[in-house]
Amino acid sequence: MSKIVITGGAGFIGSHIAESFAKDGHEIVIVDNLDPYYSVDLKRRNLDIVLKSGDATFINADVTDLERIKEIFDGTVDYVYHEAAQAGVRISVEDPFKPNRVNVLGTLNVLKASLDSNVKKVINASSSSVYGKVKYLPFDEQHPTEPVSPYGVSKLAAEHYCRIFYEVYGLPTTSLRYFTVYGPRMRPDLAISIFTRKMLVNESITVFGDGEQTRDFTYIDDVVEANKRLLDNRVTDGKVLNIGSKNQISVNDLIDNLRIITCSSSEVKYVDAQKGDAENTLSDVKLAQKLIGYEPIININKGLRKFVDWCTLDII
Ligand SMILES: NC(=O)c1ccc[n+]([C@@H]2O[C@H](COP(=O)([O-])OP(=O)(O)OC[C@H]3O[C@@H](n4cnc5c(N)ncnc54)[C@H](O)[C@@H]3O)[C@@H](O)[C@H]2O)c1
Repeated sequence: MSKIVITGGAGFIGSHIAESFAKDGHEIVIVDNLDPYYSVDLKRRNLDIVLKSGDATFINADVTDLERIKEIFDGTVDYVYHEAAQAGVRISVEDPFKPNRVNVLGTLNVLKASLDSNVKKVINASSSSVYGKVKYLPFDEQHPTEPVSPYGVSKLAAEHYCRIFYEVYGLPTTSLRYFTVYGPRMRPDLAISIFTRKMLVNESITVFGDGEQTRDFTYIDDVVEANKRLLDNRVTDGKVLNIGSKNQISVNDLIDNLRIITCSSSEVKYVDAQKGDAENTLSDVKLAQKLIGYEPIININKGLRKFVDWCTLDII
C-alpha cells in the first residue's frame, strides 16, 4: 500500500479519487485550502465521505505556499495526484491572475516539493481546454494547443512544467487532459449541474449561444479509473493523455435528455455566447487505451441518470 497525497481532494474529482484509493487501503493525505469559489459546505461534505472511507487525513493548506507544501511532502509520500486548481473558464476570463497563481505557481510548487522529497510520480489534472481553437476533431494529443481562455493557458503552462520536471529533473509525471467531467458531487458551476437543479424545480434555464456547441462529457467513474491506472505506471512518464468519453453531444441534445429524465417543463432561454468558451470538444483516447488500457464505460444516458438520482437526493 502507498502513501498518496491528493491536492484539491476536497473538490469534485479529487474527492472521488481519494475515496477510491482510501477504500483500496492506501494511506491518503488530502491537501486543500477549501477555496470559497463554490460552496465550502459541499467541500466539507466531500471530505467527510473520504475521511470515513479509510485511512485518510485532511490538511488545510494552499498550494501557492511552497514552504507549507514542502513541510507536508516530508519524504514519506509515494505518489501525488495534483487536482487542486482554480477551475472554470468563465471565472478566468473575469480574473486571469488567480488561475495563473493557483494553476501555474501552485503546480510548480507541487512539482518542486515532490522532487525534493523523492515522490515516485506526480499525476497532474489537465484539461481539454488546452486545445482551444479546433483544427480537427476528435482531438488527439498531437492537436495544436491554442487555448481560448486564461484558464486554458494556465493548464497548458502547468502541463509543460510537468513535462519539464520529468525531462530536466527526472521526476516522473503524467498529465491527464480531462474532457468535461460530470457526476455526483460535481462542481455546481458546470452546465449539467446548473441545468439539472433548475429542471428538477421547473425553473427556466439559460443557454449561452445557440446550444449547437458540442461537448465530450466524461463520467466521473471513468476518470477515477484512468487515474488509478496511472499509479506506478512507467510507460506514461513525461506524457499527456486524453481522458474523455469518445462521444460528443450538443447542449440542446443534453437539455432534451435531461428534460426526459427529470420530467421537466423548464423553459430554455438563449443568450449570447460567452467569451472563452470552447466551440466543440471531442476526445480521441487511443493513446490512453494503448498505454493504460483506458476504456470509458459509462455512456451519457446512464451517466445523466446516475447524476440526476444523486441530485434528487442532494436537493431533498
Ligand atoms: N471538472 C471538470 O470538468 C474538469 C475538466 C478538466 C480539468 N479539470 C481539472 O481537474 C481538477 C479538479 O477539478 P474539479 O472539477 O474537481 O474542481 P474543484 O474546484 O471541485 O476542485 C479543486 C479543489 O482544489 C482546491 N483548491 C483551489 N485552490 C487551491 C489552493 N490554492 N491550494 C489548495 N487547494 C486549492 C479547491 O478548494 C477544490 O477543493 C482541476 O485541476 C481542474 O482544472 C476539471
